Amino acid sequence: MSLLATHIAVITGAGSGIGRAIATGYAREGARVVLFDINADTAAETADMIRSAGGTADSFALDVASRDACFALAREVAEKIGQVSILVNNAGITRRNPFTADTEAVAKDWQDIISLNLNGVFNMTQAYLAPLRATKGRIVNIGSIQSFMHLRTPSSAAYTTSKHGVLGFTKALAAELGKEGVRVNAIGPGFIETNLNATARATNPALVQTFLDHTPLGRSGKPEDIVGPALFLASDLSAYVTGSIVMVDGGYRTV
Ligand SMILES: NC(=O)c1ccc[n+]([C@@H]2O[C@H](COP(=O)([O-])OP(=O)(O)OC[C@H]3O[C@@H](n4cnc5c(N)ncnc54)[C@H](O)[C@@H]3O)[C@@H](O)[C@H]2O)c1
Repeated sequence: MSLLATHIAVITGAGSGIGRAIATGYAREGARVVLFDINADTAAETADMIRSAGGTADSFALDVASRDACFALAREVAEKIGQVSILVNNAGITRRNPFTADTEAVAKDWQDIISLNLNGVFNMTQAYLAPLRATKGRIVNIGSIQSFMHLRTPSSAAYTTSKHGVLGFTKALAAELGKEGVRVNAIGPGFIETNLNATARATNPALVQTFLDHTPLGRSGKPEDIVGPALFLASDLSAYVTGSIVMVDGGYRTV
């Protein structure tokens, strides 16, 4: 029996990297996947890949920072596809400007990153609350090592704040929704090779090396490394797990 048979799973940021890998993994385990991305083309590409492999996928353009758009699409998904029982809040961006950089640039980073990485998680969770409660659903939020610490490698205070917020939100919702059977957990990826850090990888090998020097497993991660933990948290394998964060960081946070 497939791990996610009968489930309908919404995944945000599913056009690339970690979101694409999770969507593909969920579809392989029998879920009907509903893919959202601000980039309609890449989301459609993921859906095509999944359908070619025999899975069931639909894709939609969505900016998760727009609360109205999240609610409008939730109504459309309910009508056209059905009751969503798994929500993966994955869409996110980062920037690498220090707080002491140009004031306007830092203020824009703050606005953009909090709107997407934190408010987007809130918008999506509220928009799908009714079906998730009705199905005793599961929420998987994508945090980070930066849910716990600010990295010494260049990053932004806004990103660290947003990912701390994602973990706080995960715990608060787990406490509030647990009695209804809705489980809320997070994944904390380490350095995963995706578009998010493609420029840094191409132009700043020293930054990558700093990460690897601190990583017991001695390598960077691939999007596929996130799939097993994401399946675990969305499936009955984790029936007694809520409010937790599974670190998928090669051991970075333990040393
Ligand atoms: N790659 C890493 O090393 C790493 C580490 C820790 C956490 N994360 C987190 O993992 C998540 C996925 O990142 P990734 O590495 O796969 O990056 P990615 O850039 O490959 O994918 C992010 C996806 O989100 C989409 N997106 C951007 N803005 C959006 C919006 N407003 N609405 C909807 N979709 C939007 C992008 O189009 C893209 O397809 C993010 O939350 C990121 O913070 C990544």
